[in-house]
Amino acid sequence: MSDLITFDAAAKVFHLHNQEISYLFAIEDGGVLSHLYFGQAVAAYHGERRYPRKDRGFAGNLPGTERERGFSLDTLPQEISSRGEADFRTPAFVIRQANGAQASRFVYARHQIVPGKPALPGLPAAYVESPDEAATLIVTVVDQPSQLSADLYYTIYRDRAVIARSVRFHNPADQPAVTLEQAASAQLDFPAGQYQVLSLPGAHANERHLQKETVGYGIKTFASGRGTTSHQMNNFIALTAADTDEFHGAAYGIDLVYSGNHALSVEKDQIDQVRVVAGINPVGFSWELASGAEFQTPEALLVYSANGLNAMSQTYHSLIRERVVRGRYRDQERPILVNNWEATYFDFNEDKLRPIVDTAKKLGIEMFVLDDGWFGHRDDDTTSLGDWVVDRRKFPLGLKHFADYVHRQGLQFGLWVEPEMISKDSDLYRAHPDYLLAIPGREPSPSRSQYVLDLSRQEVRANIAGQLSDLLDQGYIDYIKWDMNRHISDVYSHTLPAARQGEVLHRYTLGLYALLEELTTKYPAVLWEGCSGGGGRIDTGFAYYMPQSWTSDNTDAVSRLGIQYGTSLVYPPNTFTAHVSVSPNEQTGRHASLAMRGNVAMSAVFGYELDLAKLTKTEQKQVAAQVAEYKAIRPLIQFGQLLRLESGNDYAWMFVSADQTEALLYTFHLLNNGQPAFHIVKMAGLDPAKQYMDTASQQVFGGDELMHIGLYQPLQQQDFSTQQYHFKAINPG
Ligand code: GLA
Repeated sequence: MSDLITFDAAAKVFHLHNQEISYLFAIEDGGVLSHLYFGQAVAAYHGERRYPRKDRGFAGNLPGTERERGFSLDTLPQEISSRGEADFRTPAFVIRQANGAQASRFVYARHQIVPGKPALPGLPAAYVESPDEAATLIVTVVDQPSQLSADLYYTIYRDRAVIARSVRFHNPADQPAVTLEQAASAQLDFPAGQYQVLSLPGAHANERHLQKETVGYGIKTFASGRGTTSHQMNNFIALTAADTDEFHGAAYGIDLVYSGNHALSVEKDQIDQVRVVAGINPVGFSWELASGAEFQTPEALLVYSANGLNAMSQTYHSLIRERVVRGRYRDQERPILVNNWEATYFDFNEDKLRPIVDTAKKLGIEMFVLDDGWFGHRDDDTTSLGDWVVDRRKFPLGLKHFADYVHRQGLQFGLWVEPEMISKDSDLYRAHPDYLLAIPGREPSPSRSQYVLDLSRQEVRANIAGQLSDLLDQGYIDYIKWDMNRHISDVYSHTLPAARQGEVLHRYTLGLYALLEELTTKYPAVLWEGCSGGGGRIDTGFAYYMPQSWTSDNTDAVSRLGIQYGTSLVYPPNTFTAHVSVSPNEQTGRHASLAMRGNVAMSAVFGYELDLAKLTKTEQKQVAAQVAEYKAIRPLIQFGQLLRLESGNDYAWMFVSADQTEALLYTFHLLNNGQPAFHIVKMAGLDPAKQYMDTASQQVFGGDELMHIGLYQPLQQQDFSTQQYHFKAINPG
């Protein structure tokens, strides 16, 4: 027993609860785990909501209960369901038994409650720093005929509205091998109702736009089959009440802590109940579970908010910021950097880069990042991936010589790498043509002229780890941008037999995690930034290794509003990066003021991505002012609470400190019009009893005024305008 998890042995009900949430499920007839409730906290459960009985047409019953026609897996809300035994809805598990049948029914065997939260072997997961922060319920269920068992892990944190779930399968040593054809991390069944589902679809340079749909009958799956999280569909969804908005209404977030193929499916059944199943994408997946073997699924983080999407996001933000991200940068302010990618692309050498570094120093920027093109003989994107050795044509005296120059200017030095990839024109390929993923007898498909290394293989990982260690051991690299610029096709590994090729993509992801764990542990002083053609691998699993990630290759401020708005649904602003680039923008051709570009980029981890030396004197002054401004507000942006206020033709969001003594408001007006309405922006999350001073105008407002009456936005004479307001409480006590 624990104060967070109780088991009522008479009613056979488990109750995970804290001040904010309750999660309830029961051992029903036949040992089946039936889901009872997830939502706002209740003090105690009195058992009234045992699932009602009704004989429904074409609904199968449990074997041996022929007379109990009112009880059927066909409609029962459950904790886990599987294929083959009369639950015809989306299964969480599909098991191919040794005799070839797809069948399993997992029933309760035993449970235990442990303090804290056990780590997941080989996989990223939310963690605790002390066992008192959380408690974990482990329920063991067994498929009796095969003796295959599954441990269902449920962790509840004391002070967070989140339940972390995962599953570990065990096949007993005396049983034949079985095949897992689907092994979800969590299933969440909802009572009949009208729901909306929110998802984050997108594209390269257009990631994570908020999509809202009504949940209708049938199955809708939000998935990636690209071997990675993908720009196209993030591995997060939320189910909400029909009228939920940013500040009101129920919202259930389901976030998969994983960076491979994922599927989050939503099914509305014949009697309006809704089932969500989240886990590794079963399409293309299979896993042979040998006698005596175990399989651990990734973790799913289930969040409940009674007060709309902002509260849901804040639960994810603080959890990811405090208990997913690791290492010294977790609690440290992130440096303001300048990256040379959009400034030079591949066309650079030491002489061309030095003026950027010099100007960066003058303007107060803290780090210089050398992007793609510094290694092999890479003058475009067709060569050299796999050869992590400096190109002496561009750096005749070596990379360290240039890095020393950067350091002498007082800046940190960062470097771009793309370690999962290989070009056919590379020494690595010439030495090891078998290292890439390719199907025997078939030409693998190039993408950006490159191929994917088979990271499921230890010797491939060792080669890459060795090359990167050679670089990092020299001690002059302060930051690594870890990129991945294509998706994974031609899935086949030479190391696995034919029947086990369905394991390759998950093994790739596990191999990637092992490599990241090794390198991030070995080089703890390095700041690691994730990237995949922009934001193709922004997910909670990657945040476990990389405290920040490049949000999108689209640096246009107006496009970024929607991208960063969607990204903030799950990920805290100190995990995604945003850079000021040139106007007109390289991706969209749009003109935007430096103020507009600055305010959008300052709303996350800030930097620049242009040739600073080419800016006019006036622009350089503005940049220096932005850099100074960001340094002053950085703790608030990176560690404060984000609240989204508006989106559409007008965007507004704000940051507020935990003690509510300081707040920043950003507003953005997109297209102007000839006869504008007067637009009022209302703040949120302030202390109504405090008096706040606008640091620019020195005007004082009550917190209640700012939240209820709001501020008129100035009328504009142009498109794409922005305001920043910085408030400080004048009676902080
Ligand atoms: C990806 C990244 C960019 C840049 C290029 C270099 O597209 O997202 O920021 O690093 O690769 O090739």
